[in-house]
Amino acid sequence: MEEKTKQLNNIRNFVIIAHIDHGKSTLADRMLELTGTIEKRKMREQVLDQMELERERGITIKLQPVRMSHILNSNSYILNLIDTPGHIDFSYEVSRSLRAVEGAVLLVDATQGVQAQTFSNLEMAKELGLKIIPVLNKIDLPNARIEETEKEIIQLVGCKPDEILKVSAKTGQGVSELLEAIVEKIPPPLEVQPLPQAPASPELQRGEQHEVEPLVSRALIFDFSYSVHQGVIAYVRVFEGEFKKGEELFLINAEEKFKIREVGFFKPELKETEKLGAGEIGYVVTNIKNPGVVKVGDTIINLKSQIPALPAGRSNLKSWALEGYREPKPMIWANFYPESQNNFDDLRSALEKLHLSDSSFSFKEESFGPPSAPPRRGGLGRGFKLGFLGLLHLEIISERLKREFGLKVIAASPTVAYRILLKDELAEEIIYSAASFPEEHKIRGVFETWVNTEILTSSQNLGSILKLLQDYEAEVGETVEFSGTRLLLKAKMPLRELMRNFFDALKNISSGFASLNYEIVEERPADVLKLEILVAENPVSAFSRIVPRSRLETEAEKMVEKLKAILPRELFSVKIQAKATGRILASRTLSALRKHVTGNLYGGDRTRKMKLWQKQKKGKERLKARGSVDIPQEVFLKMIRG
Ligand code: GTP
Repeated sequence: MEEKTKQLNNIRNFVIIAHIDHGKSTLADRMLELTGTIEKRKMREQVLDQMELERERGITIKLQPVRMSHILNSNSYILNLIDTPGHIDFSYEVSRSLRAVEGAVLLVDATQGVQAQTFSNLEMAKELGLKIIPVLNKIDLPNARIEETEKEIIQLVGCKPDEILKVSAKTGQGVSELLEAIVEKIPPPLEVQPLPQAPASPELQRGEQHEVEPLVSRALIFDFSYSVHQGVIAYVRVFEGEFKKGEELFLINAEEKFKIREVGFFKPELKETEKLGAGEIGYVVTNIKNPGVVKVGDTIINLKSQIPALPAGRSNLKSWALEGYREPKPMIWANFYPESQNNFDDLRSALEKLHLSDSSFSFKEESFGPPSAPPRRGGLGRGFKLGFLGLLHLEIISERLKREFGLKVIAASPTVAYRILLKDELAEEIIYSAASFPEEHKIRGVFETWVNTEILTSSQNLGSILKLLQDYEAEVGETVEFSGTRLLLKAKMPLRELMRNFFDALKNISSGFASLNYEIVEERPADVLKLEILVAENPVSAFSRIVPRSRLETEAEKMVEKLKAILPRELFSVKIQAKATGRILASRTLSALRKHVTGNLYGGDRTRKMKLWQKQKKGKERLKARGSVDIPQEVFLKMIRG
């Protein structure tokens, strides 16, 4: 197919990529101020972090686009910035935004130097051929190691020293020079119009004669949000043509038609505009109310005038799809249950809504026992199987369910997925929860995921990191010296171990200075078993865990001890036990809460006291028989944190 290309000279699209806390959102704040996008009096810190949770924790969870206007040498430019999250759990968000831009500002904190996430984000940007602008941040701080960090950046990017810009996102120093570099170095978007080869129909001929009119309008969805009134609001990068209100559009992969209700861009709040043109980043209000139809990575195409130019037939439409994104891949799984079964439908609806603003978690209905059976304390009844990108992601989703939907959930211990070969059946099974892990005698083989990790650390921490890696069953690989005092350490470990809070442990022993990056590499046999926890002799499935045989006893002791410390006491004593392979491995007794039923009886009326004691005893027995120990939601959450 022939192509017609046009440079869109006044547009620059870019992302800021960095390791967590290196100052992306603060730098974005300064850019918004300098370009007058947000008035100074309306400015607040990290203005692009709009979620309450993001502001509270000082982290970016969700990518946020913003459009700025900038004048340089009397020319006016549109700068589209996408602010991306830095935490390792959210590197998927970064990969999505990289496809919508031509350049990346690689921001490195001069007090911290290059970190593991700097590596991985840079790799992704390079693969997509983006122009990289290396920037040193936090130069205002007295402990900034400017020269060393410069050397690290040169080693990493392969640039010249004078290509590295130095800024303070806090004071604004060097930020206007950075805006200038963005305009000068990042290439403007190219509009590439595919032209049909041969005139196949009269309409097509008409299309060809129409030189200036684009033959097709295409945009890539890189994110979306949802509003009750407007349905799905797709965040798009337009590659060719233009989009206007009222036009009929088609989602190529979803094979769904819709009519545009509004188009606009991000200021950063939504601002309606007449049209969105090629090279621009903006939003399209779809009015699609059906969750799940709109997916990140789908292509929006204009049907009206372009149909003649399209290859005939609906199935051929797929060949017009823009290259999508990597599907998010859940790393850990946890079952979520409503605190009361009456809220099951509320939980479903909340998850559907949350999924519209965060498509990187997955959920599916899951229940223990037949759905008609009354929910048991241990079984927890009907719930959902959720897949997350990591533990922080899990915490954020449970917190959002509570804050945004007022829903309390009981979350079962998270686990990675295991592939299991069963003895009686030839079929294999993928297990996503400890509760459904089969008994040992039924298993022929278990397989688990292994990851390659890269740890960047100063050489003085090497000893303690090697010890930590041993505790987490890692196989240490090569160690490469990185700019004098720092090392890049490679190791392989089971994903299960990585998800056992390895990241936090690493940060603790290195006082926050070691950083980590990982990718899935292979599957290996696993020697793991199900460890069950019994409360008042009833198994509580949400507490079940899949643990390596070598740590079975230690984990059993740890779990009963922890549960004893956090479980509220009852009127009767409660036994807490850990069981695996049919044996009780650890046991504790939570003593009874003494309630003075006879407290307000004065004098020596022994028979009345006896009667009350008898009554209390009966009550306790009844409760005990039902195994009805109330386990508050907080206890489940505390147990997750290990
Ligand atoms: P994530 O979005 O969570 O990845 O973090 P981020 O990269 O957006 O970092 P953020 O902008 O939240 O900055 C992290 C911390 O560094 C904040 O406390 C900022 O105030 C501080 N900070 C950022 N830039 C500078 C700077 O140039 N100088 C100084 N002194 N502090 C800075």
